[in-house]
Amino acid sequence: MRTQVGIIGAGPAGLFLAHLLHRAGIAAVNLEARSRADVEGTVRAGVLEHWVTALMHELGLGERMAREGHFHDGISLQWDRRRHHVDIGALTDGKRVTVYPQHEVLKDLIVKRLGDGGEIVFGVGGTTIHGVDTGQPSLSFRRDRDGNQEVLHCDYVVGADGFHGPGRQAIPPSLRTEYQKVYPFGWLGILTKAPLSWHELIYANQDEGFALLSTRSPDMQRMYVQCDPADDIANWSDARIWHALHARLETGDGWRLQEGEILQKGIIPLRSFVCEPMQHGRLFIAGDAAHIVPPTGAKGLNLAVADVLVLSRALEAKYRRNDQAALDRYSETCLRRVWKGERFSWYMTTMLHRNEAETDFERRIHFADLDLVRTSRAAAMSLAENYVGLPFD
Ligand code: FAD
Ligand code: DHB
Repeated sequence: MRTQVGIIGAGPAGLFLAHLLHRAGIAAVNLEARSRADVEGTVRAGVLEHWVTALMHELGLGERMAREGHFHDGISLQWDRRRHHVDIGALTDGKRVTVYPQHEVLKDLIVKRLGDGGEIVFGVGGTTIHGVDTGQPSLSFRRDRDGNQEVLHCDYVVGADGFHGPGRQAIPPSLRTEYQKVYPFGWLGILTKAPLSWHELIYANQDEGFALLSTRSPDMQRMYVQCDPADDIANWSDARIWHALHARLETGDGWRLQEGEILQKGIIPLRSFVCEPMQHGRLFIAGDAAHIVPPTGAKGLNLAVADVLVLSRALEAKYRRNDQAALDRYSETCLRRVWKGERFSWYMTTMLHRNEAETDFERRIHFADLDLVRTSRAAAMSLAENYVGLPFD
């Protein structure tokens, strides 16, 4: 097999890249370890920055999102049993975010990619990267996990293969630096068949800890509560989850959270991680392969799409005009945005969670930070600008 760009992974980074390259007339193949059903069924992120929804429309991927997505021009921050509306639209010249789940985005990306004649090989095993520091890189893999080994020859390899994929490992350890912060808490997320309780997302920091109220559809809601990252989900009965959500989301003015049947629940740890650089020879890594953010800022998927937008433009310059400069600067260009995403995600996470390892002094500072957003237009604007997505420089 031969293509121009061999992409490991068919998550948001890998699939957006395939579409962007197709638009530029560049051929690509995605190799994906999971089945199509698994990729399309995994519940993860929910919030798209304003420019990501615009990009989906540009790529002809926006139709279902326009019908089924939820458009939010504000969020609620809550502490001291009081809710404060952050008017994101007014603070950002009318920008808004879209709540449209990652797996729905992936379904749309996959259908259109296959419709455009693109190739995604699902269920591959043993993906191995070869020769990225030569002129002829390739990827070897097995179709159907135990089939024969095949080789995909390409000009460039992209590791869009998430945190645990082989992409990042193919940058020699002596040439990469990894920065990491592990938080002493995790998120327990649920999907519940319940009516909408509130018209916008609520990020709450109450005595009992953090909780987030989000939505999926008028009768399906997504909620998260802070928990011990090492806890076993078996320790969380539905009654215990509702108790925690009521305690953290309800306000002093009598507002009550609506319950429903819990259809899915799981625990994820929270971490911040960055790998520098994000390239080596003819290998480029993008998205979670290169960086992880805690989900409080809703940045993970958006940063992944930003990386591949930069990469697709750089590859286009190389193929069209034999101009290598943007490819050489790929890592540097991406990392400037990545570190701002890391900063914002860390800020939202530390401001909104209860951390037993912190002193009362630090806790007071977090409430001062929250109150600053309530009382200072500059602070609110900074939060809003980061939340809807920073401008590209
Ligand atoms: P992934 O989605 O991990 O895709 C990588 C793909 O590569 C996978 O499909 C994997 O199977 C495949 N792969 C791995 N190894 C191999 C191999 N050896 N061979 C072939 N294929 C391989 N982000 C937001 O922007 N907003 C949010 O609101 C948000 N909320 C979140 C909530 C939760 C609970 C979680 C868990 C995450 C959230 N995120 C959010 C983060 C977001 O989901 C990720 O940042 C995003 O999925 C990254 O996309 P990616 O394509 O880089 O990686
Ligand atoms: C959702 C996830 C997030 O991480 C977030 O900050 C907001 C919403 C969600 O899954 O809806």
